[in-house]
Amino acid sequence: MLTMGPISITPECKRQGYGKRLLDFCLEKAAAMGFGAVLFEGNIKFYSHCGFDYARKFGIRYHDLPEGADDSFFLCMELIPGYLDGITGVYQTPKGYYVDDTDVEVFDRQFPPKEKLKLPGQLFD
Ligand SMILES: CC(C)(COP(=O)(O)OP(=O)(O)OC[C@H]1O[C@@H](n2cnc3c(N)ncnc32)[C@H](O)[C@@H]1OP(=O)(O)O)[C@@H](O)C(=O)NCCC(=O)NCCS
Repeated sequence: MLTMGPISITPECKRQGYGKRLLDFCLEKAAAMGFGAVLFEGNIKFYSHCGFDYARKFGIRYHDLPEGADDSFFLCMELIPGYLDGITGVYQTPKGYYVDDTDVEVFDRQFPPKEKLKLPGQLFD
């Protein structure tokens, strides 16, 4: 079982198939490495093109989500068909995904200031 991401395509190259090619390539590598399934936090509108579906359909819940909360961002794909048959469980985001906001601010200060924008094609706010 594997998680990865996020992935990002530079704005001027979006909607030309690069995101799908990049993700398909990563999934091929993951399958070649022997992983049986991938869990991903993403938007179904894009990830479904590479074979992802809602993780809940595979019996996997996202950690700490209250009952009835929107879990449509939490996606899954089997790399080995049937790999998750008979399996249920709760996914915990790996520690490496958590950052300290203060550390981020300090890191960002090394670069010219940037304005936060909401760009077309951004799948999350
Ligand atoms: C999400 C992202 C990686 C997609 O990359 P991309 O190269 O633009 O995607 P593709 O051209 O391979 O798109 C394949 C299909 O996915 C769907 N899709 C892609 N972006 C979409 C969007 N913003 N809204 C709805 N559907 C989308 C479309 O059906 C598209 O096919 P089409 O263009 O023929 O309609 C890119 O938009 C991006 O970098 N977004 C900002 C960062 C982000 O939100 N990353 C995802 C979080 S993990």
